[in-house]
Amino acid sequence: MLRIFQLIFLLGSLHVQLNGVGAFDGPHIRLLDGDNECSGRVEVLRHNQWGTVCDHGWDLREADVVCLDLGCGLAESALHGAAYGQGSGEIWLRHVQCSGHEASLMRCATVLHSDPHCTHLNDAGVKCSGTLLMPSLSLLSPHAVFVAGEAVRFSCTVLLGHHLSDFHLYKQGVSTPLVTQRVDQSQTRVELTLTDLETFHQGSYSCVYRIRGSSPSQLLASPPSNSINITVVELLTPQHWYNTSTEAPVGSVIKGQGFNITCVTKQQYPGASFQLRLSRSNGTVRQSLPALTPAVTFTFSSAQSSNEGYYYCLYRVQLGGRTFISRESQPLPIAVRDPDPVLSPMVISWLVSGLTFVVALIIIIIVAKVLCQREEKPSELERETRTCVDNTYVALSINKI
Ligand SMILES: *[C@@H]1O[C@H](CO)[C@@H](O)[C@H](O)[C@H]1NC(C)=O
Ligand SMILES: *[C@@H]1O[C@H](CO)[C@@H](O)[C@H](O)[C@H]1NC(C)=O
Ligand SMILES: *[C@@H]1O[C@H](CO)[C@@H](O)[C@H](O)[C@H]1NC(C)=O
Ligand SMILES: *[C@@H]1O[C@H](CO)[C@@H](O)[C@H](O)[C@H]1NC(C)=O
Repeated sequence: MLRIFQLIFLLGSLHVQLNGVGAFDGPHIRLLDGDNECSGRVEVLRHNQWGTVCDHGWDLREADVVCLDLGCGLAESALHGAAYGQGSGEIWLRHVQCSGHEASLMRCATVLHSDPHCTHLNDAGVKCSGTLLMPSLSLLSPHAVFVAGEAVRFSCTVLLGHHLSDFHLYKQGVSTPLVTQRVDQSQTRVELTLTDLETFHQGSYSCVYRIRGSSPSQLLASPPSNSINITVVELLTPQHWYNTSTEAPVGSVIKGQGFNITCVTKQQYPGASFQLRLSRSNGTVRQSLPALTPAVTFTFSSAQSSNEGYYYCLYRVQLGGRTFISRESQPLPIAVRDPDPVLSPMVISWLVSGLTFVVALIIIIIVAKVLCQREEKPSELERETRTCVDNTYVALSINKI
């Protein structure tokens, strides 16, 4: 009769388990009467009955297996002699020996021939580190925007730490840590420095610490810290060109005519600007335009001698409270020339009409002289000359009209 009741009770508890965590994955180990959920007397479930573990051969390796199994970090101590009070029922494990890497205490070897005399006065207990706390990452550098080649300094801190092994700095999307720093067992804060930044270092960072278990290779990583974003600016040297009227010789513009200087970059940042610097014999002139597009044109409507000199383009970015300025482009020399009188179309038309006039005049004089000489008579020399002069005068008048 009692057996039947027991069976019903057992079936009942099995039913609860089936409805609860799951019959096969259900808890098979628990800690009782401790200071918190991660310390206490170790109890294991076997044949649906909770029983205790004898403290023979009980040390940190076994305790680590229990703590890890329960999600309680690693063991801080393995306690003997019913330190958390005596249990009741069966003593299920009498001399258990783990390597420290087993998934559960049930998977550890038991020493068969030790035949220890175990009572509940020998009940084993553990004190685990508890769930590892999340570390906190902060930026030691005074800003979060960097230019390629600089270094960024972080600090990673954990509030409480025992058996600390090392700290890692991770970049989101990269599985291996970028910086690793070993520490003393109780050093709870480290500085993590990432040097020689490149553009691919731009992104989101977090840190993780690890604690060491009793077996040297037993390491447990904490959850990742908060994340911090950093920006890495790479300023490329801008390029430039200039445009002016086609008749101006290379490297020069003609006084009074317009010219344009265009600065261009391959890498754009928001809020950037182009600066155009003119270096003249008597000083420097600067002007700037917002770099809303990769190429920006500075327009000069009428070239003057004050526009003559060497032009340089710069790219300037203001980000995260810092100002970055690229290197200057190669110098662009521009000479301002007076309009060339020989080549000027207006001068040419003046010259052509002037020359036509002179040639016509000479022809008329020659023709007039030839006519005069034919009609010449020695006796009437004086009168005829006057006539010729009159003829020439008439011819000249006709030409003028
Ligand atoms: C970091 O940048 C990512 C996108 O790159 C963004 O989603 C996230 O909110 C940023 N985090 C912080 C703390 O600024
Ligand atoms: C301006 O000059 C550049 C380089 O000399 C040339 O490629 C471009 O076609 C010119 N643009 C105009 C509008 O003349
Ligand atoms: C300079 O640019 C302006 C517009 O930005 C344009 O109207 C002008 O034709 C350009 N001048 C030359 C010489 O290319
Ligand atoms: C430099 O010379 C130019 C003319 O060549 C003149 O317009 C300008 O005012 C001068 N600048 C200074 C700072 O003297």
